[in-house]
Amino acid sequence: MSRIDCPVLSTRVATAEDAAAHIRPGDAVGISGFTGAGYPKAVPAALAARIEAAHARGEDFRVQLWSGASTAPEVDGVLARAHGLSKRLPYNSDPALRALINDGEVEYVDTHLSHSAQHMWFGFYGPLDVAVVEVAAILPNGLLVPGSSVGNNKTWLDRADKVILEVNRWQPREFEGFHDVYHGTRLPPHRAPIQLTSTMQRIGDPYLRVDPAKVVAVVETDAPDRNSPLKPLDDDSRVMAELLVDFFRHEVRVGRMPTNLLPLQSGVGNVANAVMAGLVDSEFEGLTSYTEVIQDGLLDLLDSGKLVGVSATSFGLSPDGVRRFMADVNGYKGRILLRSEEISNHPEVVRRLGVVAINGMIEADIYGNVNSTHVMGSSIMNGIGGSGDFARNAFLNFFVSPSTAKGGAISSIVPMVSHVDHTEHDVHVIVTEQGLADLRGLSPVARAERVIDHCAHPDYRDALHDYVARARTARPHARHTPHLLDEALGWHQRFLDTGHM
Ligand code: COA
Repeated sequence: MSRIDCPVLSTRVATAEDAAAHIRPGDAVGISGFTGAGYPKAVPAALAARIEAAHARGEDFRVQLWSGASTAPEVDGVLARAHGLSKRLPYNSDPALRALINDGEVEYVDTHLSHSAQHMWFGFYGPLDVAVVEVAAILPNGLLVPGSSVGNNKTWLDRADKVILEVNRWQPREFEGFHDVYHGTRLPPHRAPIQLTSTMQRIGDPYLRVDPAKVVAVVETDAPDRNSPLKPLDDDSRVMAELLVDFFRHEVRVGRMPTNLLPLQSGVGNVANAVMAGLVDSEFEGLTSYTEVIQDGLLDLLDSGKLVGVSATSFGLSPDGVRRFMADVNGYKGRILLRSEEISNHPEVVRRLGVVAINGMIEADIYGNVNSTHVMGSSIMNGIGGSGDFARNAFLNFFVSPSTAKGGAISSIVPMVSHVDHTEHDVHVIVTEQGLADLRGLSPVARAERVIDHCAHPDYRDALHDYVARARTARPHARHTPHLLDEALGWHQRFLDTGHM
């Protein structure tokens, strides 16, 4: 049965190939999609085919691609392989595209996710030519039922000159009622407060809106989201999860957090998922989550009854998580709310709610600066995503990582990070499988001692202590944040020289 009930828009039904023909060389294209959920399934491949045909004729055909966050091989992968992208923002995790970015072929604008919509509205990125947005259904009055992510869809639909809709029958029709799309954002100096004072409060309406006059094509699809399987929980993740849950107990005991904690945000990945699993077996109840992505661990917590509600902008489930969700979609209604990423990650809201933020990192330095994005200072891994939106404004933040990478060859605790995403002023607690370093209220030198003793792998502790000791005596009037610059930078060079990177 068709999901396109609007008489006007049902006249625009087209093939993916015809829809892709509306995209021209040099266009800026805004697509739906966040953490492999809710991205367009058909038009990107048709566009990639057009691009390849143009290249075969010797014509230049590349577009800028703007999204909510990461998509899938069907979007970033096919367009990267077609060499069809000139610029990408605000986030990418696709390996094929990552290689082109690190080779210098594609410009990548790694952006705080809460900034991406407003920078578009401010005009920082220039005009948006085409939006390609996946939805679950089109209602008779033309309102759009969003799918498994909201991301930047509202902004792309509002701002694009032309709109292509993909209506995906795989997305549950029961999604109607799962979303809260805020339409009240205004530009400075006319901005009003975001009146969101509790995690599950609604401040918008359940639908996306589009001006039907802008819709040039509606493509029907029936294809699943990426749904990447989670890695099995490893011992390190379990240990880090236990450390975090114990730390929550401590914070409650000393009266800094209520017994049902504060709204939790967890980044994507193993450890964050393991923390949620750890909470299932804990004594905490009445929990809430104000986060970006709903991974399986949050479903576990909802199923256990310990989590009363989760607000996010997207799902990021494994195939097993999707099966569980699909089997009881209506049972989750009212307990899951998907919002635009400008609201799910809004600094004002994150600070007001007192969010507890848990995010992964590549490395941290002894003074508490965190690198979430770059390997050896130069190669991008994914991007900052929402980690800065949440960490900077959180009541309490945690950065988590195994203490070593590449089989122990590289320490994740270093004298000076090779790239800074979160500065020492913003980082509260660092966690590795070795332990947890609470850095709140400590001076740089005290932080260094704690980070090395609690978080560094024993194989690297002596070298790091030795570094601090020598740095402290090297220059008499430079002991606030003691550094030996040549050596700090050389720390990374050592691994390049040994061929590990
Ligand atoms: N040096 C070199 N490589 C490192 C490294 C280091 N210090 N630390 C990690 N890596 C590599 C790993 O070896 C792995 O590489 P591989 O894919 O070739 O095996 C890769 O980085 C991912 O590391 P992993 O240990 O599997 O951790 P993860 O999946 O939890 O990802 C981040 C860690 C930092 C990459 C990830 O959390 C991220 O992209 N964060 C930024 C965005 C973010 O925080 N979003 C959440 C906000 S809601």
